[in-house]
Parts: sequence; C-alpha cells; structure tokens
Amino acid sequence: MTNSVKTPNGRLAGKVAVITGGATGMGRATALAFAEEGAKVSIFDIQGGEGQKTVDMIRDAGGEAAFFHADVTKDAEINQAFDDALETFGPYNVLFNHAGTIIVKPLHETTEDEYDWLMDVNVKSAFLTCRRAVKDMSANGGGSIVITSSIAAELGYALESVYCMSKGAVLQLARTISTEYRDSGIRCNAVCPGFVETALCVGRVFGSKCGLN
Ligand SMILES: NC(=O)c1ccc[n+]([C@@H]2O[C@H](COP(=O)([O-])OP(=O)(O)OC[C@H]3O[C@@H](n4cnc5c(N)ncnc54)[C@H](O)[C@@H]3O)[C@@H](O)[C@H]2O)c1
Repeated sequence: MTNSVKTPNGRLAGKVAVITGGATGMGRATALAFAEEGAKVSIFDIQGGEGQKTVDMIRDAGGEAAFFHADVTKDAEINQAFDDALETFGPYNVLFNHAGTIIVKPLHETTEDEYDWLMDVNVKSAFLTCRRAVKDMSANGGGSIVITSSIAAELGYALESVYCMSKGAVLQLARTISTEYRDSGIRCNAVCPGFVETALCVGRVFGSKCGLN
C-alpha cells in the first residue's frame, strides 16, 4: 500500500470525507487514496489502534485526518462520531460506507444470533449511517455516497448465504438513495468488489476463508 505525499490540487481538494471501516483493509486504502487526492478524512471504526495508524499514515504524508470511535451498529455512537467529525472538519460531502464483515458457514448451521449480528454489521449499519448522511448532505448542498456491496450481491456463493443477502440489501439501498435524494444533489453508488486479500477475506475475521478457496 503506497503512502505518497498528498497533492494539494488533487481531485478531492476541498472535499471532506467520512469513511466507516477505515481502520484496515480496503477502507484504509481508500482513506489513504482520498487524502492523497486532497480530501480531509474522518475515520469511523471500532479498531482504535488501527484507525489511529491510518490517521498517522495520512498525517505523515502531509494530509489531514482524524479517528472517531464508532460501532456502526449503534445509532448513538454513529451520531456522536458524525457530530465530532463535523466539529473537526466542518460539513462533509463524501461518505464511504464501507464497514462490514462476513460469516462463512453452511446455511443450516447458521444460528439466529449469527444472522442478527451479520445483518446488524452489514445492513443496519448502512441504514443508520446513510440515514444520518443524507440529512446532513441535503442541508449542506449535497454530496456523494459510496456503499461497499460485493460481487456476492449479484452471484450466489456457497457458505455465504447470509452475507450474500446482506450485500444484496445494501446494493438496493444505494439504488434507492440515488433516486430518492438526487434532487438534493446527492449521488449514491455501490461498489461490488470481488475477492480482495484483507483480514475479512483471509479468515482473520471469522475463522474461515470466504468462497475463493
Ligand atoms: N475482502 C473482500 O474480498 C471483500 C469483497 C467484497 C466486499 N467486501 C466488503 O468490504 C468491506 C470491508 O472489508 P475489507 O475487505 O476491507 O476487510 P477489513 O476486515 O480489513 O475491514 C473491515 C473494517 O470494518 C470495521 N468494522 C467491522 N465491524 C464494525 C463495526 N461494528 N463498527 C465499526 N467498524 C466496524 C473493521 O474494524 C475493519 O476496519 C465489507 O463491507 C465487505 O463486505 C470485501
């Protein structure tokens, strides 16, 4: 992962971005890329140490960033993080809703608690985060939201039934926001990555590899 010096005239100069799940993996890579293009970056995550590491990498390269602890399944924590980020960098015009996780196991062995947990982390989090963001962005002249879905929203993967369900749900959320809030100046897109070697994919998150193997 590169950590090159920010260009003050980059494509995101003057933009303020919020990234959920920016402590590690693709979220960290995106935080570094946004900062390199000139955006001020707020990272919301549950991993304080790794989140601060991302912030330090950005600052060391001459960029601006701050970490705010938030469990994105909890409305109060999300709202507090948005309030703190607003106080730090002013109105934001970019949201990368990326935090998420996976469970890899046969459908018939998946418990109700596991279903609830995965839906909370992947789906409820997007509902809570985007609900707040569309309100703020509408009041501030608009912005751009990107939601991380997955190729698992389009295809069915063995052992990933609930994960596929969750990623289908957030893909639909992105489609809906893009129509419902277009007159408020808000664009919304989903990205649907294939397999990327991060903690999530190589099994450090839930003890078993996702469907690449
Ligand atoms: N890696 C892949 O192959 C792949 C493929 C398609 C989609 N995705 C999606 O990418 C996203 C992140 O995955 P990654 O591959 O970058 O892995 P990752 O595990 O490195 O990153 C996930 C980040 O989300 C954070 N997070 C998890 N639960 C949270 C919570 N409750 N509150 C706040 N933060 C929380 C983690 O701390 C971590 O920083 C997920 O939405 C995942 O579905 C990953």
